Amino acid sequence: MTKPRPSLLIKKDLNELSFHAADLFVKIANESITKHGSCSIALAGGSTPHRLYELLASEYRTAVSWNNVSFFFGDERNVPADSAESNYRMANETLLLPLGIDPRSVYRWRTEIARVERTAADYDATLSTYFHTRGRGLDLVLLGVGSDAHTASLFPHTDALHEVEKFAVANWVDTLHDYRLTVTFPVINNASNVMFLVSGVEKAKAVKNVIEGEFMPEEYPAQLVKPSSGNLYWLLDKPAASKLTNL
Ligand code: 6PG
Repeated sequence: MTKPRPSLLIKKDLNELSFHAADLFVKIANESITKHGSCSIALAGGSTPHRLYELLASEYRTAVSWNNVSFFFGDERNVPADSAESNYRMANETLLLPLGIDPRSVYRWRTEIARVERTAADYDATLSTYFHTRGRGLDLVLLGVGSDAHTASLFPHTDALHEVEKFAVANWVDTLHDYRLTVTFPVINNASNVMFLVSGVEKAKAVKNVIEGEFMPEEYPAQLVKPSSGNLYWLLDKPAASKLTNL
């Protein structure tokens, strides 16, 4: 049986793609606020979403009632919040500070806690409390994809791929010789909307393997992103989509 294809949107380059990602982001946020009075979003790290965040804080700043939005992070590096490597720092500088988001609506990984496992347990408790008081999962999870087909910090052949109880874990990544902090697939697959935002020819092979390849989740972890009832969107620029067939 062929896999149901997710919704694919392919645009010329990252700039054009980021405008469409902003349109979809705003649509999802406003639908959630209309329906529930609030919206919860897990932001992606890395470099790809940088332009999207800049647009949301500028051309799109009046498109959403931001005080109804809570921000989470799909993953974080094992670094201080003010590190140049921090996903929180990137989003804070490009999106949260420019929009004047109340810090009480921003749930970051508290990497200042001495042991990385305790940072993960702290975030797990935060997510658990948030989900149980709302009775539903996140409204939107933004994700990137690495050239090795990882997503969030769910890397190939790592323990976190198999986590089905906890919402947040410290995941040892051999190839990085370090821990990464990441939400787990139960969080992602319980979201109402999941949006992959992928740019660059260096991601084309991973995109092809994840979307059209044999089901090999240890090799291609992003294949495990299968929202149980939520919408799945792939937003790709042409270089990242260049190895896909029958479009
Ligand atoms: C991170 C991200 C990670 C990222 C991909 C793509 O912490 O880096 O969460 O999953 O989305 O590695 O990264 P780029 O957008 O930098 O290519």
